[in-house]
Amino acid sequence: MLKNREVLVGIGGGIAAYKAAELVRLLTKAGARVQVVMTPSGERFISRLTLQALSGRQVPADLFDADEEAEIGHIRIADRAELLVIAPATANLIARLAAGLADDLVTMVALATRAPLVIAPAMNVNMWKHPQTQANLATLIGRGAIVVGPAAGELACGWVGEGRLVEPEAIVAACRSCLGPRDLAGRRLLVTAGPTHEPIDPVRFLGNRSSGKMGFAVAGRAAARGAKVTLVAGPVALPTPAGVERIDVTTAVEMRQAVMTRRESIECIIKAAAVADYRPAHFSSSKIKKHEAELAISLERNPDILAELGQLRRATGHGPLLCGFAAETEETTAAAQEKLERKGCDLVVANNVAEPGSGFGGDTNRVTIFARNAAPEELPLLPKEQVADRLLDRIASLLGTANE
Ligand code: PMT
Repeated sequence: MLKNREVLVGIGGGIAAYKAAELVRLLTKAGARVQVVMTPSGERFISRLTLQALSGRQVPADLFDADEEAEIGHIRIADRAELLVIAPATANLIARLAAGLADDLVTMVALATRAPLVIAPAMNVNMWKHPQTQANLATLIGRGAIVVGPAAGELACGWVGEGRLVEPEAIVAACRSCLGPRDLAGRRLLVTAGPTHEPIDPVRFLGNRSSGKMGFAVAGRAAARGAKVTLVAGPVALPTPAGVERIDVTTAVEMRQAVMTRRESIECIIKAAAVADYRPAHFSSSKIKKHEAELAISLERNPDILAELGQLRRATGHGPLLCGFAAETEETTAAAQEKLERKGCDLVVANNVAEPGSGFGGDTNRVTIFARNAAPEELPLLPKEQVADRLLDRIASLLGTANE
């Protein structure tokens, strides 16, 4: 993805600027043609000489340096870029980018370029959490920027929390994703991921073993391919994929509400979540004591979100494409075919969750994709990101057909 691609690296003025040297080195090593631009405060943290040596290109310095401007030209730099990555992006730089200022070389090329933007923020935890910083980021995300990080940990300012620049490898991965195919550009997808937890009492719940990895992989890859992705996530401890809007829910009823209220504006819903089919009929507001040798908890049915989406589409004659997942332990094919019909899906991704390396928790999955009027597509054991890409190939082609 990076070989011979023009990558513009903008460096802001924070202590994490030293990591930009490694970022430039990794990008160059991957074959990218790297052009560095810096803010004046960025230059106070890392030298132009270092970055020139690593990128093999002159690093322009001053916005008002007549000789350099004549020789390099910030518009030419902005025009030839295929990707702009800003790392570290300080709170100040993010604010100026959101406001559309062009008062140094980094903000100027950011305004002039038509290339996609990757932002890797780094700042003090309170600056990061400040509503104004979050509003500025939301503005940039709304314009299509991909935000990678920040990571949590010990910060240079002495605070502990979110605000560390992510490792350069993660920034390179975001650049790779951004330069991949953009066949879902502008498409509106909703993905559900993870388990649901159905509360029994204040300390206990019914749940399942879904980690959310499969759904998060689909959401992340769809965003990397240009889709506007809403991820409705059950209770999982995974970072939000770059460029994805995330809505956290706990129960099946909450997940249903989150999906149904958004369904009208969505073109495709991918239901990778493992939704609990039942919930305790009564929630005990105090912790249930262990008085008896046995305890019976009566359960009632949860809504079947996918089936309801399928019914709505049948009844109204319109609605988003529907892709369900089927977690099976036996007779996978028959169960997937049955779900395809009964739940009114366009695609069903069946995984045999009893097979080693497949299904819940791990980083890989072995799936077969079932579709209406097409032979099942059996995939080998693959990393969940690659499963996601193969599924998105099918969705991209169905969306293309639906649009014709
Ligand atoms: O999260 P990971 O650890 O990465 O694991 C991935 C996975 C195994 C959870 C995933 O690949 C998967 O199979 N997800 C669907 C699990 C599931 O609930 O399967 P099901 O056969 O019970 O449901 C079929 C479909 O109906 C699913 O798309 C499900 O989201 C949907 N459903 C089910 C019940 C319900 N009440 N509402 C629903 O919408």
